[in-house]
Amino acid sequence: MAATTLVNPFREGISLEGATHPVQLVIFGASGDLTRRKLLPAIYNLVQASLAPPAFSVLGFARQKMTDDDFRNLLSQAVAESGEVRVRDAQALERLRERTHYLPGDFQDAGAFATLKTMLDAFDKQYGTGGNRIFYTATPASLYGGIAAQLHHAGLITPPGGDGGFVRMIVEKPFGRDLASAKALNAELLRYMSEEQIYRIDHYLGKETVQNILVLRFANGIFEPVWNRRYVDSVQITVAESIGIEGRGNFYEETGVVRDVIQNHALQLMSLVAMEPPLSFDARDFRAEKIRVLEAIRPIAPDDVPRVAVRGQYGPGSVAGERVCGYREEPNVNPVSLTPTYAALALGIDNWRWAGVPFYIRSGKRLPKRITEIALQFKEAPHLPFRKSQIETPGGNVLALQIQPDEGISLKFDAKVPGPTMRIRAVEMDFTYGETFGSKDASPYERLILDCMKGDQTLFDRADGVEAAWAIVDPILAVWEADTKVAFPNYAAGTWGPPEADELLARDGRSWRRL
Ligand SMILES: NC(=O)c1ccc[n+]([C@@H]2O[C@H](COP(=O)([O-])OP(=O)(O)OC[C@H]3O[C@@H](n4cnc5c(N)ncnc54)[C@H](OP(=O)(O)O)[C@@H]3O)[C@@H](O)[C@H]2O)c1
Repeated sequence: MAATTLVNPFREGISLEGATHPVQLVIFGASGDLTRRKLLPAIYNLVQASLAPPAFSVLGFARQKMTDDDFRNLLSQAVAESGEVRVRDAQALERLRERTHYLPGDFQDAGAFATLKTMLDAFDKQYGTGGNRIFYTATPASLYGGIAAQLHHAGLITPPGGDGGFVRMIVEKPFGRDLASAKALNAELLRYMSEEQIYRIDHYLGKETVQNILVLRFANGIFEPVWNRRYVDSVQITVAESIGIEGRGNFYEETGVVRDVIQNHALQLMSLVAMEPPLSFDARDFRAEKIRVLEAIRPIAPDDVPRVAVRGQYGPGSVAGERVCGYREEPNVNPVSLTPTYAALALGIDNWRWAGVPFYIRSGKRLPKRITEIALQFKEAPHLPFRKSQIETPGGNVLALQIQPDEGISLKFDAKVPGPTMRIRAVEMDFTYGETFGSKDASPYERLILDCMKGDQTLFDRADGVEAAWAIVDPILAVWEADTKVAFPNYAAGTWGPPEADELLARDGRSWRRL
């Protein structure tokens, strides 16, 4: 009998080579937290590993008054302080410093953008960057649209395929604060540039272990046959943080857990676990499947919100043996705040693969530990030829994909306890990234900036993808924000969320995994 071969979407491979096209990278918000902690170390890593193109330069732009040298010193400091830098290489740092510049100015000032254009044109000549530009918006989200407009008016956005070089814009999260504002932002950006020029970033997609979900599913033949409603009982996605809001009260009051984590990171994870195999990993095929499954998530009617969604806010408690205050006692938080710091959802997917399989999602702050995990709970064996009393740990088979902090995969199954009697206990088969590969991962930002340099949009969100994700959470946010009669706080810091979250699963005869 002829062997059948599964279509392997990796035939094009996820390319790891460096970028070759010359480019200038412009960072809006160059004096901010994201630039210092994430972007500058990632850019240094790319230069150090010779993954950035040989003709490359960086220009930082923000209000703070700084000279080129001040910004270069900020770069050196960011590299020195970062835990994400793999190799400390003074020569590579110096090479980058020499090509790094700074422009002080306000994003609302058209004159500053005229200066920006003059500088970029001059650097094109100096560094041979040929008019290719990446603009990165590391600024408050309210400014993204305005920056695109200013770039347009300054003549800095050339159409793709034109002879002025390529122009791309990396847009940070949050992309809108609900469906209407996300649509408005998409429309605004698309007024000035085409979809191929817009790179909406969700750094979760740049994580090695998140990409490994795709490799596990689509490079192996053994999982696909059981990856569906016939074998999977339910799926749990947990994005748990032990930290609180780390002094960012103003930001968190406006955001809350649904906008901060569920609409983006958690739904990204869900789409990767649930999507159909793409024909290839090019941006068109991959994103089409990812968005198709988001669109298949059953819409939540306002009346259903209390049944499928639970919100929580932490009160005082203790995490890792340390007493911590409640959310309402954090600096810059309203003492009667109704912002949720915890949410749990039960979602369904209306397609052939997943009909009837609940996807439970939970995320929260000040939970007992930091862990991001996806677990597939498989159905029990159809008939157990053992007595119940012989089974010490009921629970069945679980495939758990741990995204952070200890990246790895484990499969839980039952084994016989050695001895003269039949006793059955759950054991785990483990794979851990660190033990197997040893080397330090590329940071997500490094991977994603490199992809943008290469013009690869696969791991970035498309306009309709962002909107599909907002459409899922919008009704929940609307109902919660209209209903102010909620008894917060309703979970103590250091616990796994409010009791209602347990009831959400108990009602279906299930329970959250103990992590
Ligand atoms: N920080 C993170 O870890 C993180 C993670 C994921 C996403 N993000 C997103 O990334 C964006 C930046 O976050 P952040 O934490 O870096 O914020 P931040 O520390 O407040 O930095 C904001 C930057 O924008 C500049 N800026 C603000 N208004 C300006 C104006 N009118 N003209 C010129 N410059 C202006 C600020 O410059 P001056 O201070 O010099 O005025 C500063 O450089 C936000 O949208 C955030 O949601 C951040």
